[in-house]
Amino acid sequence: MQSDGPLVVAHRGSSALLAEHTLAAYEKALAEGADGLECDVRLTRDGHLVCVHDRRLERTSNGRGAVSDRSLQDLHSLDFGGWKVDLPESADDLVAARRDRDYRQPIEDDDKIRDAERRVLTFERLLQLFVDCGRNVQLYVETKHPTRWGGLVEQRVVASLRRFGLVPDRPAPDVASSRVVVMSFSPMAVRRLRELAPELPAVMLFDGLPPLYRDGTLPFGATIAGPGLHVLRSRPRFAERIRAAGNQLYVWTVDELADMEFVLGLGANMIATNRPARLLDHLQRV
Ligand code: G3P
Ligand code: CA
Repeated sequence: MQSDGPLVVAHRGSSALLAEHTLAAYEKALAEGADGLECDVRLTRDGHLVCVHDRRLERTSNGRGAVSDRSLQDLHSLDFGGWKVDLPESADDLVAARRDRDYRQPIEDDDKIRDAERRVLTFERLLQLFVDCGRNVQLYVETKHPTRWGGLVEQRVVASLRRFGLVPDRPAPDVASSRVVVMSFSPMAVRRLRELAPELPAVMLFDGLPPLYRDGTLPFGATIAGPGLHVLRSRPRFAERIRAAGNQLYVWTVDELADMEFVLGLGANMIATNRPARLLDHLQRV
């Protein structure tokens, strides 16, 4: 990890180059030297945690319907890796492109994709990669849409982390030395995560007004504020307010050089990017 300067968090793996949330995308991020790996987790119908961003399957696989309506075995029969991404440079175009499937293209030489790269990535398989990788890297775990399942997503996430020995007995001295960081857009989910594993630092994600109390603290003991890049673009002074109260700043998703410079100027502590190699290269130069 960078000892000073911001941490580079590979968003859904090295997902500008390889299909997001696949084993290959995470292996690539590790090979590129990312400081952290970001993943989204949701539950299958039969209670398994899988790394899938969308509620539905259409965008990132050849399946249809909601992830939560399918069993893990069903998902294993789908292809999550038979397409490559061709992400637009501009962050705004990326948001628009991700709403439809236009940016997806079939991989030309289909035989080159390893079987493991096609399969849905279970959270436990990602944890196995993480503990086996032999590198000092962090994992940023985001729980998705917890309301449908009550607190089950958070319970299962923390149970898996404990099984892999990733919940320490006491909090790390600082966020950068914590192996795992948890996060959510849902304050209730952050609350549950903090109750289940108070030793893990938490990011309160948001894409509108910052959910800060008057004294600048975040709800439920979160110590990291996680605004989208677009939030800071329109209100850069939020960064000052967030940091003045002692919170750390995690910004997502920053892929363009100009935006990288912008968030560096705001003092971001962690930067989530689909292009970790580009950001690491940029940090070497500044
Ligand atoms: O890392 C936080 C960021 O991933 C939140 O947005 O939609 O990409 O999960 P989203
Ligand atoms: Ca995410």
